[in-house]
Amino acid sequence: MKINFSKALALKTETIVFLIAADKALSSQAQAWNTKSGGFLARVLKTHGKFSGAHGQVLVRTLPDGAGAVNAVFLGIGTPEKLTTRSIEILGGKLLGALEGAGIAAASVFLEGDCGAFAPPDVATHLAAGAKLQDYRFDRYKKNSSASRGKSSVPETRVQKISFVLEKSAVAEKMWSGLDIATDGTLYVRDLVNEPPNRLYPDSFARRVQGDLTPLGVEVTIYDEKKLKTMGHAAHLAVGMGSDHPPRLVVLQWNGAGKATQKAGKGPIVFVGKGLTFDAGGLNLKPTGGIEDMKLDMAGAATVAGLFMALARRKARVNAIGILGMAENMISGHSYRPSDIIDTLSGKTVEVGNTDAEGRLVLADCLTYAQKKFSPRAMIDLATLTGAMMVALGNEYCGTFVNDDALWSQMDEAGRESGEKIWRMPLDEAWRKEDEGTISDLVNIGAGRPNAGACTAAGFLEHFIEDGTVWAHMDIAGVSWVKSARPNLSKGGTGYGVRLLDRLVAAHFEGR
Ligand code: BES
Ligand code: MN
Ligand code: ZN
Repeated sequence: MKINFSKALALKTETIVFLIAADKALSSQAQAWNTKSGGFLARVLKTHGKFSGAHGQVLVRTLPDGAGAVNAVFLGIGTPEKLTTRSIEILGGKLLGALEGAGIAAASVFLEGDCGAFAPPDVATHLAAGAKLQDYRFDRYKKNSSASRGKSSVPETRVQKISFVLEKSAVAEKMWSGLDIATDGTLYVRDLVNEPPNRLYPDSFARRVQGDLTPLGVEVTIYDEKKLKTMGHAAHLAVGMGSDHPPRLVVLQWNGAGKATQKAGKGPIVFVGKGLTFDAGGLNLKPTGGIEDMKLDMAGAATVAGLFMALARRKARVNAIGILGMAENMISGHSYRPSDIIDTLSGKTVEVGNTDAEGRLVLADCLTYAQKKFSPRAMIDLATLTGAMMVALGNEYCGTFVNDDALWSQMDEAGRESGEKIWRMPLDEAWRKEDEGTISDLVNIGAGRPNAGACTAAGFLEHFIEDGTVWAHMDIAGVSWVKSARPNLSKGGTGYGVRLLDRLVAAHFEGR
């Protein structure tokens, strides 16, 4: 799908789109078209029974002959003051869906009119992002469906082009170049998450990321199980022991800020991602109903990869490190067991209370490695860590645990500006205590389980955070995946986090 921005309508435009607020007022552009069409637009708005300009309503009408275009589309935006980045994206998705439904392959959107706090370039770019997210499908394995053999009676229309008409088209174009790249990063994450676990396992995941990111200038290093053993990543290795696909650690380096920043004593920003390509639960096997979606358990690592794709493509002036902890949690005679006491890279020992609480074990070694090797300016981990996080916040908000108020306020702001919702969760000594062991230093499940499961998991990770490390833990269990389609999301991976973190880096970590 092509997106463009221009000051004037292209000559052969057939479909024009107007944003209509709840007061149904016509913008100056719409008024001009209303006159050209002999009052048609005003008449439709006045006489249509259902269209009220409510947020997300779409009405498609054929224009009378001689009006200068073929179709007029009204896109309801509701109350302008209530618009948010997210709600504008949803409008972009609704528009795309309506165009598809009407068999319209190209349209031009007029942007004059009241959009509350959002200027036309903001509205245009977020509508474009929403349309692009809505347009995504994961169909690489639909090779023999009737549709792809051309037998389907109604061929599906895909929208080929959306043009946005606005005075400040150059501003919009510049904004879009960044957001377009971040949106591509989001879709790349969806592709990785949707990939089935027989095809995407630690080694193939690592090589895929290497193949995709190396050409963009990201330095990618893959550590295999033998190397991890000599490096002392015992907890990470323990989790992967039951699988025929051994663990991998992938380190991404993007040196966009150059050596000067490093010399000034400023470490990189580090992103750590949980990359369980499949989480069967191990000997604490997950039941039917819980196991089917567990290819999603690498979404944290995928999101870090998608973020680096975006940073590299837009040549972000930042030094960033990505650490992807990959493993498969399976059952076999080699599996680690409940009651095993395992070592970690940090030196702390952990009793395995439950083999299904594997993510925190992999992360423990990754977090230690990140701090020892890179002295991060800030460290953010992303993990589909707990079902408890889904119980708390569902698919809507990402629960985030942060040990630094300044970092939290930056993330909060990035959440609002990117449209990816985020909510702060508490870290507390009480939960760290719940993870202490009796015959080992730590246990990998909280004593008060299942209460506060997301919080005791965060508390477990906190045992591996060194004094002075600025750290955030994003439990993306709920937001990285949806079981059925929603606005702008197809069933499966969502790609949550790339746009938020790209924004965070751009606003607060670049060029400093
Ligand atoms: N990967 C799961 C968490 C998860 C569940 C993510 C559902 C997405 C959807 C994680 O490894 C896990 O199994 N956590 C356990 C921890 C428990 C054993 C303490 C959980 O949440 O049940
Ligand atoms: Mn698990
Ligand atoms: Zn898991």
